[in-house]
Amino acid sequence: MPYDPTSLSNLDEVKTNHIHLDLAVDFTAKTLTGTAELEVEAIVDNISKVILDTSYIAIHSVSIGDKSLKHSLEKRHEKYGSALTIELGQTLRKSEKVKIIIGYATTQECTACQWLEPSQTVGKKHPYLFTQCQAIHARSLVPCQDSPSVKLTYSANINAPLRAVMSAVSTGEEKQNNGTTTYKFHQKTRMPSYLIALASAAWEFVDTETFIRTGEELLTPYDWGRYDLLVLPASFPYGGMENPCLTFVTPSLLAGDRSLVDVVAHEIAHSWMGNLVTTENWEHFWLNEGFTVFVERKILGRMQGKEHSEFSAIIGRKALVESVELYGKDHPFTALRPCLRGEDPDDAFSSVPYEKGFNLLYYLEKHLGGAEVFEPYLRAHVQEFAGRSINTDDWKAFLYSFMEKNFGQEKVDLLNKVDWEAWLAGTGMPPVENKFDDTLAKACNCLCKKWDESRHVAKPTEFSSEDIKSFSSTQTVVFLERVSEIDALPHSHLDLMDELYHLTEVRNCEIKFRWQMICLKANYEKIYPQVVDFASTMGRMKYCRPLLRSLYHAKNGAELARSTFLKHKSFYHPIAATMIARDLGLSK
Ligand code: BES
Ligand code: ZN
Repeated sequence: MPYDPTSLSNLDEVKTNHIHLDLAVDFTAKTLTGTAELEVEAIVDNISKVILDTSYIAIHSVSIGDKSLKHSLEKRHEKYGSALTIELGQTLRKSEKVKIIIGYATTQECTACQWLEPSQTVGKKHPYLFTQCQAIHARSLVPCQDSPSVKLTYSANINAPLRAVMSAVSTGEEKQNNGTTTYKFHQKTRMPSYLIALASAAWEFVDTETFIRTGEELLTPYDWGRYDLLVLPASFPYGGMENPCLTFVTPSLLAGDRSLVDVVAHEIAHSWMGNLVTTENWEHFWLNEGFTVFVERKILGRMQGKEHSEFSAIIGRKALVESVELYGKDHPFTALRPCLRGEDPDDAFSSVPYEKGFNLLYYLEKHLGGAEVFEPYLRAHVQEFAGRSINTDDWKAFLYSFMEKNFGQEKVDLLNKVDWEAWLAGTGMPPVENKFDDTLAKACNCLCKKWDESRHVAKPTEFSSEDIKSFSSTQTVVFLERVSEIDALPHSHLDLMDELYHLTEVRNCEIKFRWQMICLKANYEKIYPQVVDFASTMGRMKYCRPLLRSLYHAKNGAELARSTFLKHKSFYHPIAATMIARDLGLSK
């Protein structure tokens, strides 16, 4: 006979085999409302009542099928809650089973649930619910035999405005008309009630499946079976790495506001570009990355609209400008197809293959007549080359032959007008400047202009925290990029900007990084401790390399940059450590 001093249930008379939950998550009322259906089995003869554990639960109804059952909620035991006694209205013999349906709601006093306000989360935008049932809190979530002596399976339909996850396998989801979704779960292995768990929150990577589906619509079926994401330690030197079936991502993506899902879309796009169709050697790296960025932005465009993908292209162009400036416009590594004889590919790594490659494809699409012509071509490119490694000549030859075969001489004539030499071998910025839709950039440019024009006013009064309230994280990024392009603002202006926009405190790495770069450019020494902290705890090279480099060149920063690196050398990945040592003049 099971013995459990901390349960009020008649454990020696009945056991629960299965619980099915049907619950709605209400973030406003901070309650879960719905039903629990318990399959209860008599373990001895002559059973006419079932006693369940509950705690701070409001019971609305108890029935078997349509038949209401007499029930009473006993006076609360200080520690073990209120026993719910249910009269079955029949007598069960040993092994006989009944399904009891209980209509109920959790209450504000529920001890299993924590309801977080948006302000209590990292992303600050969405509420968050999670449960913790061990040891005896499941009874405040579900009326049950809340004892680890009872092992049961469970299933659930959870209706929520934000993604729900449970300690069970997901068996599907259904969108409802009111904007919520019903998430379905099944746990087929018998387990104790304290392992029931539920969380509902904005899901950073909710779009992975849609990314894959969109990629499939655009190209060919996803070839790799599974897709998992592994979040690596902070020393991971890249944003993401497209390892088949298992993308690696930097923890800097967990900004909590989903603004950084672009990286995931990018790595998923590699499932075709790079992982199926692969560059023959690192001189044609743009065939991997330029194509991937192009597909990434196609996917984002289809999912979020053209403004968003064009906005991303605007940010990409800025990255390209910076790479070209860093190398110098005549440097061989600013060519789309550089010569790497005797060179380390890591040294040639920059935004050039990504963004010059993207710009070439974007230009070709427009030049050849738009998506109707180019998207069929993209798919054919994958079909033609899947499983192979190719170089730029293979790529170009197939582009010509596809256009000729499907659209005739007219497109070949257009292709012949392309300045291939300048695009592929030329250094510096691309020979043609693409025009991107700047709908989302306008407000960012405007705000920057206002700051620029206020630089001679000692205490400008036209700014407030409202300025960026309506900005997406990406818009804040672009605003800061514009600010980094104008002459350094006076320190008093940086003080004010920080006071109003709280930039030093921001968690989003893309924003934090750009703010710190602006401060370093202005020799704003107040920011140095934050830079040291960020650059020594985040090993993603996109952030730590430019930050340490800028600190090294900032007033009173050189020694600090070197000592920071040397102190934390073992934290960095060997690839990053080698590059930083070189950046700081500590090795050749
Ligand atoms: N394959 C690259 C990462 C990489 C490139 C590792 C070269 C080693 C050598 C990955 O797909 C990538 O491009 N990551 C970017 C993501 C961004 C472009 C969205 C990154 O790391 O920032
Ligand atoms: Zn990539």
